Amino acid sequence: MLQAPKGTKDVLPQDSHLWQWLESAMRKFASLAGYQEIRTPVIEHTELFQRGVGDTTDIVQKEMYTFLDKGKRSITLKPEGTAGVVRALIENRLYANAQPTKAYYLNCPIFRYENPQSGRLREHHQFGMECFGAKEPSAEAELIALLIELLKYLGLNNLEVSINSIGCKNCRPKYYKALVSYLREHKDSLCKDCVERMDRNPLRALDCKEEGCKLITKDAPVILDYLCQECSTHFEKLKALLEQEQIKFTVNPHIVRGLDYYTKTVFEIIMKTGREGLALSGGGRYDYLVEELGGPEMPGVGFGLGMERILMELQNQHIALPEEPHLTAYVASVGNEDIPMAFHIVQDLRKAGIAADCDHLGRSMKAQFKFANKLNVKFVIMAGGEEKERGTVRVRNMHTGEEKEVSTDNIINTIIEGDNK
Ligand code: HAM
Repeated sequence: MLQAPKGTKDVLPQDSHLWQWLESAMRKFASLAGYQEIRTPVIEHTELFQRGVGDTTDIVQKEMYTFLDKGKRSITLKPEGTAGVVRALIENRLYANAQPTKAYYLNCPIFRYENPQSGRLREHHQFGMECFGAKEPSAEAELIALLIELLKYLGLNNLEVSINSIGCKNCRPKYYKALVSYLREHKDSLCKDCVERMDRNPLRALDCKEEGCKLITKDAPVILDYLCQECSTHFEKLKALLEQEQIKFTVNPHIVRGLDYYTKTVFEIIMKTGREGLALSGGGRYDYLVEELGGPEMPGVGFGLGMERILMELQNQHIALPEEPHLTAYVASVGNEDIPMAFHIVQDLRKAGIAADCDHLGRSMKAQFKFANKLNVKFVIMAGGEEKERGTVRVRNMHTGEEKEVSTDNIINTIIEGDNK
């Protein structure tokens, strides 16, 4: 039997309304903050991620779905959402508009060749927001506040916001020196990758998932002790804004994130009850990325939120979710000869904006009622029988059991009035 590739998931018809509910909440919160949707291709040139995400990251080194297309170009399925948005911003000269530029993406498919497990997929979908041109920490405070409000609205309350600052080009060299000398002292306990990356990008060792490396890096020097005046002030201002809005947070100096583009603020949101390493959302500031990808000097800040992880948490916590939508009316045909009449009534109902259906399987009246019950419709309209001669139909309210005879001209009104009761 053919199966979906490992680490991918179908969204089945009975579940799609939950996705649509998530999507509409996300759209609502994003547009309340002046963000507009952006859609970028699923494929990009591999170089975009090598330069953007960083070629010493696990994502680029181990997890990308990369292939040569028929024109021998190296193409990669998006392993994250930010780099594509930055490419689009530069290519379409959005930086020339009045700033900031605020863009969000929704249901964005992201591909990472990871070890699939609960909450870790090879194809997942992100809701992400990116703000360009805003250097003030209110830009990241706005995103964190929005995330908290959105997650609360969806029913998730037990949240923990962790923030950190990983500095800028000015403060990093001094910190790297201290970090590299600490890592050198413990070189024998580090994994092969970390030893290799130590000189090129020592920050990556802090993000290594190997147990041995985690033990060592736990006591490594932290960048917060090395921040320059500008980064330190920025971080203090961010904390003050979060406090002002009564958003609880912890400063976690061990958050460095798995992508190279971050500067200054990084943050993650987890469920207090959730499993270690499974963040609902992660993001931060990336003030050099636009320039590094060929655009002008322009700060950026954003986050990504895993949509499958949100649904998984809502279900794990048995939070009441919206019900599956259902039809309002089912038109049963009394005999086979009444199918065209039932079909016509359905067309009229739909034209009037009433969700309706009729039998498409040639079922008996009894079987049609049974099916209508399963569909959870409020009304069954019976087309045919002796009422047909009188120009009427019988309409049964399935909730009350009440039945009445209605002129065929009056079906729509009867359903609208009955549905409003
Ligand atoms: P990220 O932390 O790699 O950041 O991913 C963002 C979110 O996507 C995670 O917090 C998690 O909810 C979800 N996620 C990540 N990997 C998986 C997976 N394998 N299976 C299921 N869900 C997953 C980024 O991707 C950055 N582009 C975020 C960002 C935007 N930073 C600035 N702007």
